[in-house]
Amino acid sequence: MSFDDFRRDFIGLDTRYRLADGRLARRHYLDSAASTLALRSARHVADELLRHYANTHSDLHFSARIASHAYAWAHGQALELVRADPDRYTACFAGSGCTAPLNRLARTLAMRRPERDVALVSLMEHHANDLPHRKHAGQVVHIPLTGASPALGAVDLAALERFLEQYRGRVNYVAVSAASNVTGIVNPVHDIAALAHAHDAWVVVDASQRLAHAPLAISDTGAAERELDAVVFSGHKLYAPGSPGVAVMRRALLEGCEPDEVGGGMVEDVYPSGYRLSARFPDREEAGTPNLVGAVQLGAALSVLQRVGMQRIHATEQERLRYLLAELSAMPGVRVYGDPDPERTPRLGTVAFNLNGLDHGLVATVLNDYHNVAVRNGCFCAHPYVRELLKPELWALDLDPDADDAATSLKRRQGMVRASLGLYTQDDDIAALLAGIRDLLARPGHYRTLYDADTDGNFRHRTFNAAAKALFDPEATLDRALARLSATDDVL
Ligand SMILES: Cc1ncc(COP(=O)(O)O)c(C=O)c1O
Repeated sequence: MSFDDFRRDFIGLDTRYRLADGRLARRHYLDSAASTLALRSARHVADELLRHYANTHSDLHFSARIASHAYAWAHGQALELVRADPDRYTACFAGSGCTAPLNRLARTLAMRRPERDVALVSLMEHHANDLPHRKHAGQVVHIPLTGASPALGAVDLAALERFLEQYRGRVNYVAVSAASNVTGIVNPVHDIAALAHAHDAWVVVDASQRLAHAPLAISDTGAAERELDAVVFSGHKLYAPGSPGVAVMRRALLEGCEPDEVGGGMVEDVYPSGYRLSARFPDREEAGTPNLVGAVQLGAALSVLQRVGMQRIHATEQERLRYLLAELSAMPGVRVYGDPDPERTPRLGTVAFNLNGLDHGLVATVLNDYHNVAVRNGCFCAHPYVRELLKPELWALDLDPDADDAATSLKRRQGMVRASLGLYTQDDDIAALLAGIRDLLARPGHYRTLYDADTDGNFRHRTFNAAAKALFDPEATLDRALARLSATDDVL
C-alpha cells in the first residue's frame, strides 16, 4: 500500500458545508492538534471486534478470549510505538485522553517519594501537564524557555540544570512536553532526561503533540540515563477518536506502590479484612472494565503509523510545514510565534499566528465561514505560554485596567490562531488557509462590518447562522437509520 493510499484512509475528508457566501465546499481540516480525524482501517478493526464483543479478563468463552487477546495486543502496540522494553515498561490505558494518565502519574509519583516535594514543569505546557502537578506534587517550579518573546524557543537546559542544583534532593520529577500544542516547538526530552537522572529525578514526557508527527523512542541512543521514565499521549490525537489516554511507564515507578485506582480486575484476592493486589502489569494499574473497543481502535491506528513509518510521516510533514511557515513569514501583516530558526529550534506541524489589527476570534471565524478552513483560536489550554509569547504586544496595547471594557479588550487580543496538520493534510488545505489569510488581510474592514463581537471575544455573523443541529442532528440521523431498518429488515 502506498503512502498516498494511507493518506486517503480517513473518515471525513470529503465532508462539505454550506458557507456564508452560499457555496457548498469541502472542509479543510487544520485542527489536528485538538483531535485528528479517524483512520478508517483502524475503525474497521474496532467494528469487526464488536461482532465478538465481550468483557476482558477471561480466556474462557471464545468471545472473552478474543477480547482479552485484542486488548493485550493494543497494549503491545503502545509499547512498540515508543520502543519500550516490555520487561521494564508497561502501557496503561486511562480516561479519554492524556489528562487522566497525567493526573494519575502526578498522584502516584507524589505518593512514591513524598520527601521530594518539587516538580519542575516547563513554561510551555498544556494545562494537563501543569495543573495535576500543581495539585499533587507539592511545589511546581516553572522552567523558562530559550530566546525572547515572541520568538521563544524550547526548554532552557541551563535553567533546568540551575533548578536541579537549587532544589537538590527535592526534585521528584521533571514534566515536559515532547512538542508544544501551540507552536509545535520540539523539546530535547532525552537531554532533559539525562540532566534529571543525574539528580535522581524522573522525567514525565507529554508526547500528545509529537507521536502523530514524528518518532519518539524511550531512549534515543540506548543509554540508560537518557531513557524517559513515563511517556503519555492521547489516542484521539493519533487518529483514533473514542480511544483512551495512554501512559507508557517504567515499571519500577509503580512496583511496590499501591495503584492509584482500585476495583475489579486488579486484585489476586479480596477478604473482608483486606485485599491482595495482582503483581501483573498492566492489570494492576487498570481497575474496572476497560474501553476495549477504543483501545483496539487505537492499537490498530498505532500499527498503521508504524507500517507507514514515523520517519516517513515526519519527513513528509516537514516539507509541508516549511512551505507553510515560509509563506506566512513572507506575508506582511502576519506574526508567527516561536523561534523562527528551524535549525536551532525544530518544530512539528502546528503553527500559531496572528494578523495585524485583526482579533484572533474574527480571523478563525472568517476562515471557517468563508473559506471552510477549520482552525482553532484562543490560548489552547496553555495560558501561561501564550501570554508569554504575546507579552510584547499585550504591553503595547496599553490598556486602561479601569476601563469598563478592559477585560473584553484583553480577551479579544489575548490569543492566537492555530493551524495544525495531520497525515491527511494536502497542498490544497494549506492553499485554502493561505488564500483565506490573504483575503482577510486585503479586506479587514469588510469582514469587521459583517460580525458582532460578544464580551467573551467570540464573533457572530450578522446574517449567516449555521447551527450545529442544522449541520448534524443525532436524533434525525438515528430516525433515518431506524426507518431504514424497518423498511428493509437489514441489520444496521
Ligand atoms: C500537549 C497536550 N497535552 C495534553 C493535552 C490534553 O489532552 P486530552 O484533552 O486528550 O486529555 C493536550 C490536548 O490538547 C495537548 O495538546
